[in-house]
Amino acid sequence: MASSSFLQMMMLIVFVTAFGTTKLGVVVDAQPSPPIARGLSLTFYNSNCPNLETIVRNRLRTVFNNDIAQAAGLLRLHFHDCFVQGCDGSVLLDGSASNPSEKSAPPNLSLKAEAFRIINDLRARVQNACGRIVSCSDITALAARDAVFLSGGPDYKIPLGRRDGLTFATRNATLRNLPPPTSNTSALIDSLATLNLTTIDLVALSGGHTIGISSSCVSFGRRLYPTRDPTMDQTFFRNLRLTCPANNTVNTTVLDIRTPNVFDNKYYVDLMNRQGLFTSDQDLYTDSRTRPIVTSYAINQSLFFERFVFSMIKMGQLSVLTGSQGEIRANCSARNPTTTSSYLSSVADDNEEQQFVEGESATF
Ligand code: HEM
Repeated sequence: MASSSFLQMMMLIVFVTAFGTTKLGVVVDAQPSPPIARGLSLTFYNSNCPNLETIVRNRLRTVFNNDIAQAAGLLRLHFHDCFVQGCDGSVLLDGSASNPSEKSAPPNLSLKAEAFRIINDLRARVQNACGRIVSCSDITALAARDAVFLSGGPDYKIPLGRRDGLTFATRNATLRNLPPPTSNTSALIDSLATLNLTTIDLVALSGGHTIGISSSCVSFGRRLYPTRDPTMDQTFFRNLRLTCPANNTVNTTVLDIRTPNVFDNKYYVDLMNRQGLFTSDQDLYTDSRTRPIVTSYAINQSLFFERFVFSMIKMGQLSVLTGSQGEIRANCSARNPTTTSSYLSSVADDNEEQQFVEGESATF
């Protein structure tokens, strides 16, 4: 049995290498960079803030030397910014009791508080050097890029020139755009398709789970109780039950058991060994549409890096504000005061039907 599945895997490698596609038509060839959105540029701050990238990288090198866990927090922050209302820094905004922010919606409650502080600190350093010309959304994008590189991942240029949004999304819009970890692959494919992200983007971006933690057992408790999810490895299951004596225990566990703090392709090796933490991870290997992609990344880290970079650049340009849209915030947590109206308004319709089951809201 083992040798037959090894043979199947070798045949897949030969097939993919020779033809660049699987039998499902999934292109896994080397790809050029995605198109750069109008208004963004790879040289955006070259003349008015030439040291921007050095300032951000050097500061983050120090931060991560003290605590590498912050890298994962920053990568996830950029993802949560971009998936909801585009990469406009809206996730950074504080709300109020009467007008709760995107930040306070359930999927964002487990974003690391320190990640928000790091972005504000970077913004202050950049402003000291260059004045108020770099947006909080660009700083968040750069921080995510550097989080990947400084944890061992690929280095790459990202288009810059984003402007900061004036509004944040409602709780409902946030829930609608950030799929829960209980999602299967079909739900994830559908969810990402609404953002024009493909199945390949889904598998590549999920590789972000090669670093970081889950801060609660609730996100995967249903895979442990009342019985083992049959797609979960036995030993992995027994160890997770020790970490999570009940399905709602609040305890932390790593997302990639092999190399939890290193940005590499081991996440996909975990999936092939049935050691993915969330349903949304493990089902990528169970589902026949995504399994060949998972396998190709597990056996070829360079291919994963190439695809991850491509999809991150794509994700990082979702619905960006450019030119004279939005603003450059003086404080990433608050919209700039205006003479007319300085309060925040939400963009999505609060009256829309809720898209989630109440009991599931805690699974993020
Ligand atoms: C595809 C759907 C996704 C789902 C359902 C999902 C879900 C989750 C959940 C539930 C956590 C644990 C949060 C906690 O309890 O603290 C998490 C953590 C994380 N996610 Fe995702 N995620 C997805 C996609 C992504 C993407 C696209 C990226 C980045 C490219 C990403 C990067 C991360 C990182 C780095 C962490 C660790 C955060 C930390 O240690 O603070 N995730 N994700």
